[in-house]
Amino acid sequence: MIHINENFLKLKASYLFSDIAKRVSNYQEANPEQTIIKLGIGDVTEPLPKVCLEALHTAIDEMGKRETFHGYGPEQGYDFLREAIAKHDFQNRGANISADEIFVSDGSKCDSANFQEIFSEDIRIAIPDPVYPVYVDTNVMAGRTGENIDDRYENLVYLEATKDNNFSPALPTEPVDLIYLCYPNNPVGVTLNKE
Ligand SMILES: Cc1ncc(COP(=O)(O)O)c(C=O)c1O
Repeated sequence: MIHINENFLKLKASYLFSDIAKRVSNYQEANPEQTIIKLGIGDVTEPLPKVCLEALHTAIDEMGKRETFHGYGPEQGYDFLREAIAKHDFQNRGANISADEIFVSDGSKCDSANFQEIFSEDIRIAIPDPVYPVYVDTNVMAGRTGENIDDRYENLVYLEATKDNNFSPALPTEPVDLIYLCYPNNPVGVTLNKE
């Protein structure tokens, strides 16, 4: 008999952002005269710059012609892109990062979910609170937590970011195996200094 991964049942609600989207749309329906300022996920305000549009159009056109069509790219990302990222995002800002240290993926959300699979199920995790929800939810799905009781998962060590500590949580006071550092923090926006 096939079994499902019952850890998914521990997830308290649907993904936070779909929950927010539902609440916003319910509110808007009930209050059509109100203008809502959305500060949620993906709410960018500006269109893509011209240079990006042109590059996207050119790349799509290449895929439509036999002479320039190509299949999968290299799995770490195209060298020209990795080199440009290393140069413009890092080296030009004084960070000694080379192109072979860059991995071009489909987004950091998937990566932050995927890389936790490297670790075994029984490691103890510390995580800032509040934090981007994917960091907690993926560990719940992987079985590293207990149940959700009063908005807290058992077996997770929460590093509280509050007004009292200027939203910079202290290090955990109990042994943990892995600490998530989310800086600049989403949602509170603080960052840490090197020290
Ligand atoms: C802290 C943090 N991690 C990960 C993500 C997901 O990023 P991506 O769009 O690259 O998947 C976000 C998106 O807002 C974020 O704020």
